[in-house]
Amino acid sequence: MKNVLVIYYTQSGQLLTAAQHVVANLQKDANVAITYYNIEMEKPFPFPWPASQFFDAFPETFKQIPATIKAPPSTLFNQKFDLVILAYQVWYLSPSIPINSFLKSEYAKTLLQNMPVITLSGSRNMWVKAQEKVKVLLQQNQANLVGNIAMVDRNINLVSVITIVDWMFTGIKRKVWGFLPLPGISEQEMQASTKFGTIILKHLNQNNYESLQTELVANGAVEVRHFLVSMDQKANKMFKAWSNLVLKFPKKRKFLLKLFYYYLFIAIWFLSPIVHLIHTITLPLQYWKIKKQKKYYQGIQLK
Ligand SMILES: Cc1cc2nc3c(=O)[nH]c(=O)nc-3n(C[C@H](O)[C@H](O)[C@H](O)COP(=O)(O)O)c2cc1C
Repeated sequence: MKNVLVIYYTQSGQLLTAAQHVVANLQKDANVAITYYNIEMEKPFPFPWPASQFFDAFPETFKQIPATIKAPPSTLFNQKFDLVILAYQVWYLSPSIPINSFLKSEYAKTLLQNMPVITLSGSRNMWVKAQEKVKVLLQQNQANLVGNIAMVDRNINLVSVITIVDWMFTGIKRKVWGFLPLPGISEQEMQASTKFGTIILKHLNQNNYESLQTELVANGAVEVRHFLVSMDQKANKMFKAWSNLVLKFPKKRKFLLKLFYYYLFIAIWFLSPIVHLIHTITLPLQYWKIKKQKKYYQGIQLK
């Protein structure tokens, strides 16, 4: 008998749906038992998000400051698991506060030590640097990262900015202005992700994950878009400065977060198209760098 623990947090249900699709073919095997653990916050985050709270979550998310989570069910600690699937979302280019809080808790130390872990992210599209932060947290828990699947909204970057923000602020998945695509991971991609379960099952039964990530990548589990990597890296530098500033002046928090909102607006709508243009023009010069980056971010090693 193989026991698989799926650890997840989700607001809209998207991450749970993704995890359910990924483990669907594992579940069909009579020899595999799946246990779900839903991370719960002592003080839950709202969904849909009021705009002020959405931006208020920024500094603590980016600085990876943990909040208190509810104790996981005690039954989790009486079982022996063979594999953990960690399903997480990205907030502000970092693991969401609930995921970060779990990974920094004593519970994670107990549950993840020496455990093979597969990460499954469900984000808008900017996840590569968040995954680096998750790699560090897993290493701190002495977990063994054996695979990664990155599920995203595949629409054009500036389109998904509009549609995902609309979804987060209304709680409704709808076609903005009647013609923009639905936000989030598409139904088609969800259905297709069941193939990852078949691959994982083989490795679970062999108790050997050596070639797992290579097979997952060959089957489309991780798409790395070089422009998004470059934006992620640049935005991480800016977010570092902004989060330091907001946390340094707690009395001016509201005002500074308002400025941050204006910065984000300008960065997304005015700076990013310019950066995209420069990036495209200089593409031939960056060929080798981009190739190396792609290989690294599709992998599971930590630099
Ligand atoms: C506060 C907040 C910040 C977010 N920041 C990012 C981000 O930096 N990059 C990204 O790709 N998606 C980002 N997203 C989208 C989430 O990664 C995720 O796709 C969405 O919240 C749905 O997840 P759910 O399963 O919790 O409903 C953000 C969402 C929220 C609520």
